[in-house]
Amino acid sequence: MTGPVSDRAWGARRLGLGISGPHGTALVSRKGTESLIQRAYELGVRLFDTAPSYGAGEAEKRLGEALVRLPRFECIVSTKVGLYSSGAARRERDFSPDTVRRSIDDSMQRLKLRKIDWLFLHGPSSAELSDGLFKAIEEEQYSGRIGLLGIAGRGEELEAALDTGLFKLVMTPVHAALDTDQLIRLSKIRNSGAELIGIEAVAPALPRYSLPTSPGKIWRLARHAAGRAGDGPAVDHPPSEGIVWALTRGRAHRVVTTTTRMAHLEENVSAAISADDGA
Ligand SMILES: NC(=O)c1ccc[n+]([C@@H]2O[C@H](COP(=O)([O-])OP(=O)(O)OC[C@H]3O[C@@H](n4cnc5c(N)ncnc54)[C@H](OP(=O)(O)O)[C@@H]3O)[C@@H](O)[C@H]2O)c1
Repeated sequence: MTGPVSDRAWGARRLGLGISGPHGTALVSRKGTESLIQRAYELGVRLFDTAPSYGAGEAEKRLGEALVRLPRFECIVSTKVGLYSSGAARRERDFSPDTVRRSIDDSMQRLKLRKIDWLFLHGPSSAELSDGLFKAIEEEQYSGRIGLLGIAGRGEELEAALDTGLFKLVMTPVHAALDTDQLIRLSKIRNSGAELIGIEAVAPALPRYSLPTSPGKIWRLARHAAGRAGDGPAVDHPPSEGIVWALTRGRAHRVVTTTTRMAHLEENVSAAISADDGA
């Protein structure tokens, strides 16, 4: 898609596609991930989010492969540092400056990029926000390898990070089941001038248990079994309505969602467009 951006396409620009979860595993084929990314691009999506911890780098590799076939300059590529997986379910955290620098090198290689547009700290605790870490990522940004810096999280570490003035992006849950304290935190984020990227916009509407008829459902069941997912339907609207809620009532600037299904991708893009139409 080239030339002037239509109003519909602006709505799609507010949706990001997450290349995570099953996209880092054999539950979805590489070709399947690539086709979804390609289709998202055709529908007007330009933000693609991933992380080194998603399938121990497999999700980043898949995004890197798909990007080769897309106009790179039109896309925003977002990845993260601080959380790593070495296969299976094992997850390690390391926000030390040397590991973070190495992680950026590795991500660039897997994504086949010389610049990462958005780099997020992946769920650090307040105690993990050190001066050494800030210096390392600021230097990376200064060198031109990173565009904007962000923080992904859900607690008081977000405010602590914003107070440094380094971070222009915050990735955090935005959905109708947030409690008052969480909604107040969202207000503070918006008032700081940072861009608010909503996550978990869809998931709170999904049943905890359902027949494992798609890679996404199998992935969710596995997470429930491992005790790494919530309790199931926390809101009573259809899943894609969560995108509308996040972009309108939740006042997120953008929403990142993931899916393994083309029909869901198309539904989600339509929801983002309808949110923009009604804004
Ligand atoms: N959650 C976090 O802790 C976190 C942290 C940092 C970044 N992120 C980013 O956020 C992205 C989104 O993750 P999320 O945790 O916020 O999950 P989410 O996008 O709210 O929900 C994803 C789940 O919803 C299902 N789904 C998507 N669209 C649907 C639709 N229209 N109808 C029915 N089901 C639908 C998907 O399964 P199907 O495959 O069956 O569609 C998938 O299991 C990630 O990919 C990542 O890039 C998340």
